Amino acid sequence: MKKNIQISYQQFADRNALDETERMLFERAKQARENAYAPYSNFLVGCAVLLENGEIYSGNNQENAAFPSGLCAERTTLFWIGANFPHEKIKKIFIIGGPRAFSEKTPPIPPCGACRQSLIEYETKQNENIELYFSNLNEEVIKVHSIKDLLPFYFNATFL
Ligand code: THU
Repeated sequence: MKKNIQISYQQFADRNALDETERMLFERAKQARENAYAPYSNFLVGCAVLLENGEIYSGNNQENAAFPSGLCAERTTLFWIGANFPHEKIKKIFIIGGPRAFSEKTPPIPPCGACRQSLIEYETKQNENIELYFSNLNEEVIKVHSIKDLLPFYFNATFL
């Protein structure tokens, strides 16, 4: 039997298509990106997270001379939030990535597979979807309603 999975996503042409909260998240992710520690890849990623209490926290990628010891922007931010606000729900996460040297050609940068898996864990834990936005420096933005839209057939605790 053949089955299909469909996902829907929203595409925003530029930052003006976003609402006030989304624009704020865009700015915070962009600022955070500037502080990324990425001397090896020169690929800078910033991430801003909106919590249910209205606070926004941000983070960026942190690289290491021993390459696998570094961490993506999304997980750097998420794990800090998990450590400090374990009972606060995550409403939205906004990601901006791109090479240090600006390039017109960089598309909106989606989270890597490992970050998707980590994000799913928090979505499952809070039993509520997390809206995810990803963007580039050209201000093109893509939004999905839930992390699960980016990772069908995700692994979760029910398999353990
Ligand atoms: N990176 C992120 O921070 N998030 C992603 O989802 C994709 C990749 C970082 C990891 C590494 O520091 C650099 O981008 C190049 O892969």
